[in-house]
Amino acid sequence: MPDDAVQLPNDLDSFWMPFTSSRAFKDNPRFLSGANGAYYTTPEGRQLIDGTGGLWCSNAGHGVDRITRAIQAQAADLDFAHTFGQGHPIAFQAASRLVDLAEGFDHVFLTNSGSESVDTALKIALAYHAARGDGQRRILVGRQKAYHGINFGGLSVGGIGLNKGQFGQLYPSALHMRHTLLPENAFSRGQPDHGAHLAEDLTGIIETHGAHAVAAVIVEPMAGAGGVFPPPKGYLERLREICDQHGILLIFDEVITGFGRLGTPFCYQHMGIQPDLMTAAKGMTNATVPMGGVFATAKVRDAFLNGPAAMPDLFHGYTYSGHPLAAAAAIATMDTYRDDRIFENAKAMAPHFEDMLHSLNGVPGVVDIRNFGMVGAIQLETPDAARAAYAKAWDAGLIVRPIGESLAMSPPLILTEQQISDIGEILNTVLRG
Ligand SMILES: Cc1ncc(COP(=O)(O)O)c(C=O)c1O
Repeated sequence: MPDDAVQLPNDLDSFWMPFTSSRAFKDNPRFLSGANGAYYTTPEGRQLIDGTGGLWCSNAGHGVDRITRAIQAQAADLDFAHTFGQGHPIAFQAASRLVDLAEGFDHVFLTNSGSESVDTALKIALAYHAARGDGQRRILVGRQKAYHGINFGGLSVGGIGLNKGQFGQLYPSALHMRHTLLPENAFSRGQPDHGAHLAEDLTGIIETHGAHAVAAVIVEPMAGAGGVFPPPKGYLERLREICDQHGILLIFDEVITGFGRLGTPFCYQHMGIQPDLMTAAKGMTNATVPMGGVFATAKVRDAFLNGPAAMPDLFHGYTYSGHPLAAAAAIATMDTYRDDRIFENAKAMAPHFEDMLHSLNGVPGVVDIRNFGMVGAIQLETPDAARAAYAKAWDAGLIVRPIGESLAMSPPLILTEQQISDIGEILNTVLRG
């Protein structure tokens, strides 16, 4: 065997894989063993364009030397220290850099994933009202087709039935608004025209249960993992208004939209709408070391400072909140985003990405195309068609993500016009094939 050959595992059974049919995987295992820039390499040495940016997370592309070196150096200096009532400087430095990128927010509670960020944000929302003597606010409002990760809170406010079916009763006071995927918006470029009225579902919930009972509304400003639905024009603005009128916290789940996907650091800035809490993860460290966070305004955090001074502000935290390796990775990632002008490239490439996707309008079997910044989805007729197209694209040198009937894409934000054309060519061949 040559020195650089990659050894494939003999045992495909010990690793119980996430969101995977283990039988289907074993019948046709697909492996990646290397990555650089916008490409993955297979063990056989084939290159695949990373059309999914890892899983909506490798925003600056793979193998960024500056980030790798920062993680290595941090592991040598301080591999681990917890942050329960004691600190290490790099966690504070990382938090400062993150908050600097998110104007309107003053604090970030650090976690290890998007799911943990969502559950943390929901707990902060409940505890915020309790801290202000308004503890009867217990209802958490989510949306149909929403994905907020897989922990109990996120699953409760999430709206994908398949993800919940195995688990029975979740958070008892979760209610859902309708999703915003409307047939009249098919083939919209960017934000669709129809659907602002769906924000009135929140008014309906308030009328039924009383505003005094509603703690928070959580939405992905652009629904991602449910199939990519950009927000209808006026929809998020209206949600903000209703929340303001009734003292309800608005949480944006920016686990996918954070860190440049729309050409701004976060989607709320692109939209010009300030949420009260924001969840993030994924691109926070360019996906190199797990890290997530909940961004909070001073108004929210300050409500926690009225208890006894010796007691924790919030009875919540993870062993790895502010982990030194993740903190080092986050700082190097923020440096990379700034110095390599990654978000600027996303903004410049978004129109080309949009044109490439919509050039597939008219290909037999394509029933809708949706895009927003550097995210897109091509909807086919059936989930089987999407899975078959995913497999063919893999063989043709492109990774896409099948979600229901759709193929979702969220490539690294370093993509060039040429690479966008290459993706278009592969998709054209695959979908016509
Ligand atoms: C909007 C949103 N929230 C939460 C999550 C969960 O993140 P994680 O898989 O890091 O737990 C995801 C993952 O894709 C997501 O898209």
